[in-house]
Amino acid sequence: MSNLSALNQLPQYYHLEQKDHMDKPMDVEVSGEVPKWVNGSLYRNGSGLYKVGNTAWNHIFDGFAVLQRWTISEGKVTYQSSILDSEFYKKTAKHRKIVGEGFGSSFPDPCETLFGRLFNRFIPKSSDNTNVNIVEFGDRLFALTEMPTLNEINPDTLTVKQKSAISDYVVVHLGTAHPHVLKDGTAIFYGTNMVHNKAYNFIAIPPQTDFSKAPLAGAKVVATVPSRWKMHISYTHSFGITENYFVHLEQPLTMSIARAMLYKPLGMNGAEVIVPHEGESLDIMLINRSTGQRLPVTYRAPEGVVFHFVNCYEESNHVVCDVCFTPKGAKSIQRIYFNLMLEDAKAGIHYKPNYTRFVLPLSLDGAEEGKNLVTLPNTTATATLEKGGKNVIHVTPEFFEENMYADFPAINYRYNGVKHRYCYTSTTLSTQQTKLSKFDVVKKTVKTYEVTNNFSPSEPVFIARPGATREDDGKW
Ligand SMILES: [Fe+2]
Repeated sequence: MSNLSALNQLPQYYHLEQKDHMDKPMDVEVSGEVPKWVNGSLYRNGSGLYKVGNTAWNHIFDGFAVLQRWTISEGKVTYQSSILDSEFYKKTAKHRKIVGEGFGSSFPDPCETLFGRLFNRFIPKSSDNTNVNIVEFGDRLFALTEMPTLNEINPDTLTVKQKSAISDYVVVHLGTAHPHVLKDGTAIFYGTNMVHNKAYNFIAIPPQTDFSKAPLAGAKVVATVPSRWKMHISYTHSFGITENYFVHLEQPLTMSIARAMLYKPLGMNGAEVIVPHEGESLDIMLINRSTGQRLPVTYRAPEGVVFHFVNCYEESNHVVCDVCFTPKGAKSIQRIYFNLMLEDAKAGIHYKPNYTRFVLPLSLDGAEEGKNLVTLPNTTATATLEKGGKNVIHVTPEFFEENMYADFPAINYRYNGVKHRYCYTSTTLSTQQTKLSKFDVVKKTVKTYEVTNNFSPSEPVFIARPGATREDDGKW
């Protein structure tokens, strides 16, 4: 099946074309009512443009970034949508076909010199197609992907203002599109170093409100943790943070260091650098934010993968870690090529992230083999000391609404790092379900909202009502 024919069998929102670029705000018909207190702009980013001319991407991560903005004022809404003017996209637009290397496939560049072709065969390029997330940091907007490059975005025109790279300040080779912004404005980023004993890095960037200065100035590594493998490093999409800890998952889905060095000369794609380790554990590690040191305990969870953290917090000498966990999902990243998604849907194979809670006891004093160390009430999650071991705790998760697709989670961000009760999720990327859901993890109930009429649910965002004192007083 060609890339174009696979794409044409997918729902309409995969069929955007270059002509759908709408950089001038247009009025939007509103059904229902937008509360008068909701005023401002909602920005979204994602992999949105998959076909250019007669060429099409095949991996869901590869689409060109499309930025969207809804501006809401006094109940009126305008909308604009813009294909991000990255260098990669501009080159593709000039040639009227995709030119260059994506994650899951690559297309030849007719203008490249013989030397350039040889050079690029050996040296992977950092893509500036920042198509995963958009975040506000220090009164500036940034479009991000998992490369160290960030594009600062003009909030009115949705065009690139300037490029910055975390790797200009610290040694990392990959990044995350899901940083945290602390209450004092400091941003905490994550970066992977492809040297195994410096693999997982947490980077603090002080708030920068002086627009004449570089936005990432002052970035420094505040914690570094080695990989458990010598020749592999866990793939990391996001991380958690509590008052005292960074929460990092070392999952059985890794980047092979050997393949990262050789995939270009061997003619492989970037996606083939990522290797599933079926049957291996997902290890959870806690890193002390003040000292940068990892706690000498491994919390060993069953095989599975996580793209998105819901929230983490400390309670009564435990760390509660809520994530969207796909049991035995290590192969899922290799199945999100459009042609393979269609094959899996026909065969009834569905990877399904669940809202999942792990509870990590902080004190092992008096721990006995076989005894559940979780003493928090209202959870079925468990933690037991490994037989004959001292610093490995086996943890089993609590699932909320098992078998219900729940990913792209949002909480009221005021509760980031502290105990939350509500979470909002969507079924974006599911070929089966089209739902938005609100979880109450105290009462353990879920309200779902079916999205109909050929629409797809996007990632929810929670907006607190001004002056709200209740966690879920707002709109999402
Ligand atoms: Fe994400």
